[in-house]
Amino acid sequence: MGVKIVAMGSYIPENILTNADLEKIVETSDSWIVERTGIRERHIASPEDATSDLAYRAAVKALQKAELEPEQIDVILVATACPDYLFPATACIVQAHLGAKRSACFDIEAACPGFIYALEIARGLLSIPNYRNILVIGAETLSRITDYTDRNTCVLFGDGAGAAVVTKDNSDSDILSSYLKGNGEVHKLLMLPAGGSRKPASFETVRDRDHYLKMQGREVFKHAVNGMQDAAQKVLERAGFRSEDIDWLVPHQANIRIIEATREKLGIQPNKVYVNIDRMGNTSAASIPIALSEMEDKGLLKRGQLVLIVSFGAGFIYGAMLLRW
Ligand SMILES: CC(C)(COP(=O)(O)OP(=O)(O)OC[C@H]1O[C@@H](n2cnc3c(N)ncnc32)[C@H](O)[C@@H]1OP(=O)(O)O)[C@@H](O)C(=O)NCCC(=O)NCCS
Repeated sequence: MGVKIVAMGSYIPENILTNADLEKIVETSDSWIVERTGIRERHIASPEDATSDLAYRAAVKALQKAELEPEQIDVILVATACPDYLFPATACIVQAHLGAKRSACFDIEAACPGFIYALEIARGLLSIPNYRNILVIGAETLSRITDYTDRNTCVLFGDGAGAAVVTKDNSDSDILSSYLKGNGEVHKLLMLPAGGSRKPASFETVRDRDHYLKMQGREVFKHAVNGMQDAAQKVLERAGFRSEDIDWLVPHQANIRIIEATREKLGIQPNKVYVNIDRMGNTSAASIPIALSEMEDKGLLKRGQLVLIVSFGAGFIYGAMLLRW
């Protein structure tokens, strides 16, 4: 059985938050943000939109490109750390908007690598006869859980969504190898403390701003570089390729210095790395599908190319996939 990524789509909100805008909100500067992160601007969802709205628009584009009707979709998988609600799943709301009446739907909370985790789950589901077409979406409205009084985090994140239509046929698989890994011992380094069963919402949690993302950036940075390198090397080994065989490295867009360190450790040429962090910021689970969708629209991805996707995020978890485009 061959698993195929037949089409990509994305949706980027129109509203832009620039570094100059952030200079007016917290004590920071454009030069600090650009130098330390590579980010110049990020997109912010309209107040009336939730994650499912962004996910829906990305899905519509992917379905159009795949020339599929919503009723041909068997499963909708939404990878997100910013669901519309704690429950029901955001995927159910996307299903209703699409009118994908036949589909199963559920969310995956796998932070920034969520899209890679969701692709792996889709690959597993496609090995079962019942499933043929799966919509894999990474969608985030991180601006809703970002504390715009905390300069350590508020400069980093943006909103957006990317979607892939994944199907199967009798040819070779587009997914050559994969690797997923977790390290829960250090889960407190990056988290949203309140609103779950550990710390339910209360007057105190709101007062203490515990419904916003908290991060120990420097520690996260070190784990991210090591995790991304480890996962990338594992998928190369598993598929029997070397880093020089890669046509494109499409890393999670969290920080240009993390991207650059990962690229250097792997020994990949700078012109083979796709970077859009300057325009997008960190869009967590949406970052890789947005990048792939942009690359496809720009004609950068050619059939047969080797594409390495790799990501790292809260948990900590990390993962990579080697794709034959
Ligand atoms: C957050 C991050 C950009 C901070 O960069 P850094 O070089 O590690 O900076 P540090 O945290 O060591 O802080 C250095 C100084 O800059 C200050 N600083 C932090 N944010 C700032 C900002 N927005 N503007 C100006 N100064 C800032 C800090 O307060 C600190 O000042 P101090 O030395 O007086 O205490 C970086 O650690 C990072 O990207 N980490 C990984 C984040 C990530 O990828 N998270 C998601 C994983 S998916």
